[in-house]
Amino acid sequence: MRQVIRKLKGRIDDEVKKYPDARAAALPSLYAAQEEFGYLGPAALEAVAEELGVSKATLKGTATFYSMFRHKRTGRHVIRICTNVACMLFGAETLVSIIGVAFNVEPGGTSPDGRFSLVISECIGACDRGPAMLVDEDEHFNLTAGSVIEILDGYK
Ligand code: FES
Repeated sequence: MRQVIRKLKGRIDDEVKKYPDARAAALPSLYAAQEEFGYLGPAALEAVAEELGVSKATLKGTATFYSMFRHKRTGRHVIRICTNVACMLFGAETLVSIIGVAFNVEPGGTSPDGRFSLVISECIGACDRGPAMLVDEDEHFNLTAGSVIEILDGYK
């Protein structure tokens, strides 16, 4: 844990140098904390708050505003599949079921092996290439029943 906090604080210090006010580095610091801890739990928020000199409540308020921040432990990979109108018309909801059966994961949950968390997402800006999903930071478009399984098989 100490090593994670030390590494995070180094990353935050690098971010703070880019801004005239340390508080302006809140978002990149929260992203760094999420990468280092896997999610923004109490220890991650405390480390960021200490380094930026802001309260944990302020950071939590910021972090809960953005949907890309995770507030509980997740699987090794986070699948965000869009089910908004365009992707829904392309069959996104069927893909959610296929993913659920193939990888034993419910929307909003994590597979028992800790491999995947499945999040039903709002539009990710690829409506013309739906169904669309993000796996961690990777974008995947024009998904089919076959391609979604093949893509996810690549995430161990
Ligand atoms: S509706 Fe799915 S990416 Fe826009």
